[in-house]
Amino acid sequence: MATEAEAQWVLTATGRSPTNIAVIKYWGKRDEALILPVNDSISVTLDPDHLSATTTVAASPAFPSDRMWLNGKEIALSGGRFQSCLREIRKRARDVEDEKKGIKVKKEDWEKLHVHIASYNNFPTAAGLASSAAGFACLVFTLGKLMNVNEDYGELSSIARQGSGSACRSIYGGFVKWCMGKNDDGSDSMAVQLVDESHWDDLVIIIAVVSSKQKETSSTSGMRDTVETSPLLQYRAQTVVPGRILKMEDAIKNRNFESFARLTCADSNQFHAVCLDTSPPIFYMNDTSHRIISLVEKWNHAEGTPQVAYTFDAGPNAVLIARNRKTASLVLQRLLYCFPPQENDLDSYMVGDKSILSDAGVQSLADIEALPPPPEMKSPSQKFKGDVSYFICSRPGAGPKVLTDESHTLIDSATGLAKG
Ligand code: ADE
Repeated sequence: MATEAEAQWVLTATGRSPTNIAVIKYWGKRDEALILPVNDSISVTLDPDHLSATTTVAASPAFPSDRMWLNGKEIALSGGRFQSCLREIRKRARDVEDEKKGIKVKKEDWEKLHVHIASYNNFPTAAGLASSAAGFACLVFTLGKLMNVNEDYGELSSIARQGSGSACRSIYGGFVKWCMGKNDDGSDSMAVQLVDESHWDDLVIIIAVVSSKQKETSSTSGMRDTVETSPLLQYRAQTVVPGRILKMEDAIKNRNFESFARLTCADSNQFHAVCLDTSPPIFYMNDTSHRIISLVEKWNHAEGTPQVAYTFDAGPNAVLIARNRKTASLVLQRLLYCFPPQENDLDSYMVGDKSILSDAGVQSLADIEALPPPPEMKSPSQKFKGDVSYFICSRPGAGPKVLTDESHTLIDSATGLAKG
């Protein structure tokens, strides 16, 4: 039983981690429990101002159990993935002393201390935008800070991987490779940073959040079905991806957009081919996704060299990576022409870096209506009002950060509960 003085203290740490988008996809596990992939993957980390998770972790002798709140609602912490991350960080915890608060925690005390976790995503968790990647990276990073863990980022990425595979890549900013590793215990399956976010800062990332009524197959069960039934997956993982990884690393290091775009589109298309090759087949993209691919393919063809790359994860949302702001504004004009907003509100139709709208010459809904049909499309080209819910404009961004300003803390240190 904690003494009254002990029961009073609450130690907290708050961090923020970005999400990431794979340009060479992770699909298929060789070990389900340890989350070990069948191939290497490469991603770009998005600007945390636009897509990130913020997490406060608190520890106190007054807490009788571990608890978690996600976006203000309490969720069960019973899942094995949360438990794996907590266990691995607790194992590496060290002495902590907060002189201001007069708190001393010995390394061995962390095993007995329970934690409260409050996490908030700055984008809709249900939009299918890899929220668990940002979430688990943030959890591991912030728990590591709270418990004064000394491990390098590679080791942290390996722990985040055990929460959600792609979370290991959100431990770094810029372009990141998840090396699949060879060891059975997963100790060499971790992320490395290829280049930081300043290396290729011309790139502009536009996400079309596509309206979908369909319940999607979860990545976990989809991957399992693919591993069990798709003959194409073996070919992809063993014969195609290793060469693509080398070419993609080269394209990124040399900022070779043409090569980058061709590899990104080809890899997204092969990932979805592998989903179709699964029994029963998995359809993540829908008609809107296919229309966006066709729009980009036609424009790239008309330009002679690729100006925009597309990639789709386990859902219908399109992620478009433009060579620079000029090409981003031109592709945005095309997208807005084909997918005008359903609601009469331009402000909520573009989130993140809204300044891309003025680059595209769009200040009002009337400007969207006045956009000319894209010349490379067969005229009169059809419009699909309402098929895109909204757009997010972002850029390559930095990795996790500690937030020291009290205003970011999501747990009330008086009550130990998530702030309302
Ligand atoms: N899953 C989705 N969002 C998350 C978050 N912020 N933290 C942990 N798990 C999540």
